[in-house]
Amino acid sequence: MSDGLSIAPAGGKVGLLLVGLGAVSTTTIAGILAVRKGLAKPIGSLTQMGTVRLGKRTESRSPALNEFVPLAGLDSLVFGGWDIFEDDCYEAARTAGVLEPAILDQVKDELAAIKPWPAVFDRQYVKRLDGPNVKKGKTKKDLAEQLVEDIRRFKSQHKLDRMVLIWCGSTEVFMTETAAHQSLAAFEKALESNDPAIPSSMIYAYAAIREGLPYANAAPNLSADVPALLELAQQTGSPLAGKDLKTGQTLLKTIIAPGLKARLLGVAGWYSTNILGNRDGEVLDDPESFKTKEESKKSVLDYILQPSLYPDLYSDLHHVVRINYYPPRGDNKEGWDNIDLVGWLGYPMQLKINFLCRDSILAAPIVLDVALFLDLAKRVGFSGIQEWLSFYFKSPMHARGLYPEHDLFIQLMKLKNTLRYIRGEPLITHLGREYYD
Ligand SMILES: NC(=O)c1ccc[n+]([C@@H]2O[C@H](COP(=O)([O-])OP(=O)(O)OC[C@H]3O[C@@H](n4cnc5c(N)ncnc54)[C@H](O)[C@@H]3O)[C@@H](O)[C@H]2O)c1
Repeated sequence: MSDGLSIAPAGGKVGLLLVGLGAVSTTTIAGILAVRKGLAKPIGSLTQMGTVRLGKRTESRSPALNEFVPLAGLDSLVFGGWDIFEDDCYEAARTAGVLEPAILDQVKDELAAIKPWPAVFDRQYVKRLDGPNVKKGKTKKDLAEQLVEDIRRFKSQHKLDRMVLIWCGSTEVFMTETAAHQSLAAFEKALESNDPAIPSSMIYAYAAIREGLPYANAAPNLSADVPALLELAQQTGSPLAGKDLKTGQTLLKTIIAPGLKARLLGVAGWYSTNILGNRDGEVLDDPESFKTKEESKKSVLDYILQPSLYPDLYSDLHHVVRINYYPPRGDNKEGWDNIDLVGWLGYPMQLKINFLCRDSILAAPIVLDVALFLDLAKRVGFSGIQEWLSFYFKSPMHARGLYPEHDLFIQLMKLKNTLRYIRGEPLITHLGREYYD
C-alpha cells in the first residue's frame, strides 16, 4: 500500500447549487433533509450505503465507502438554486408530486427557505416551457456575470467553504458543436455576440467552471461537453461529470445487455417504450428535446454490444426508443422493453421487461453521490472529465478519441478502483491466482 494522494480536508460547509428546482432537485433536497433528521434511509446512494472491498478476499476488509474516503457529510450541505418559476422548494416539491406531504411537511421550513434565484432562460432551447422568474441582460456574457454574482453571494452569505453546481434543468433542444464551441476564446466572443449556439445550460456551465466549481449535467444536452469549456475547466481546476442521469430503462439496459453479450447471445431487436406524466415528460413531448434524449438513450447498446467485433450477433439490431407523455402517471414512469434474442443455431427467443419505476426516486441518490464525489475530486486536485463517474450517466463524458464505457459493472469497478487509487490501496483485478498458489 502506498500513501495515496493528498486530499484537502472534507470539513466545512458545502453549497449544493441546482439549476432547476423541479422533480429531481426537490426530491434530492427533501430526501437529504429527511435522512438528516433520521426520517428515512438514503437507499440507492453509494456514498451513504456502499462499501469497498480492500485487499484479498481472505482479509475481510470492506469498510463503508464514506469511511474509506473523506466525503462531505450530509449535515454540511447548504442548498440553493435557480428556476424560471418563483415557487419555493416546498411548493415546487408539492407541484412535482413525487414525495408525499407526510414526509415533505416534516422538512417544510427548511424547504420553504430555499427560494429560487431568477434563471437564465430562453424559450428557443426549451419550447414547451415558460415562466416569469428570468434574468434580463443585453448579452449572454452579461447573464453569465449575473450567475457568477449569484454564486459568490451565496458563498459569502452562508460562509461556504466549497460549492458544487449541477444542471437539473429541462432537456434542451438537440444541438451539435459549432465553431463557437471549439476554443475558450471563440466561446467568450460568442457569449458577447449572443450566438444562438450557446444555450442557457452552457451559460450556467461557463459561470460555474469559471469560478472553479465542480459541475455536473443531469440532462443530455451538451452543456459543458464542448472543447471550450473543457479548456476552461483545465485552467480553473473544475472537475466535470455528465451527461443524463442513468435511471430507469437505461439503467436496466446497461445491466442486462452486458450479461447477454457475456454469453454471446445475439440481439435482433430491442424495442423500448415509456409513458411518463411529469414536467420532464411534457418537455420531452417536443420532438427537438426528445431528439436530445433519444440520442443519449440509443448510443448505449451500440457501445456495450460492439457490433463491429461481433457482426453475427449484433450488426442487424433494430433499436427503437419511444417516450410518450401521459399525464395520469405523473412521476411514476412505466417502461416496457421487448428484446428479440438469438440463440444456438439462430433460434429466436424473447425477453419482456415491465419496469414500474419512480423517476426522481431513482435520480435523487445519483445527484447526491455525484455532488459528494465531485467535491472529493476537487479536493484531490482532479480537473476536467471524471470518467470514473460514468457509472451514473447515460451518455458518460469521455476523452475525445475514446469510446465511452457503458457497462454498469465495468463502470462500478472503475469507480471503486479510483477510490482505491486515491487512498493508495492496491487495485482489485479479480485475477485471484494467489488463493491457489
Ligand atoms: N430520473 C429522472 O428523473 C431523470 C433521469 C435522467 C435525466 N433527467 C433529466 O434531469 C432534468 C430534470 O428532470 P426533472 O424530472 O426534475 O424535470 P422537471 O421538469 O421536473 O424540472 C426541471 C426544472 O428546470 C427548470 N428549468 C428549465 N430550464 C431552466 C433554466 N434555464 N434555468 C433554471 N431552471 C430551468 C424548470 O422550470 C423545472 O422546474 C431533465 O432534463 C431530465 O431529462 C431526469
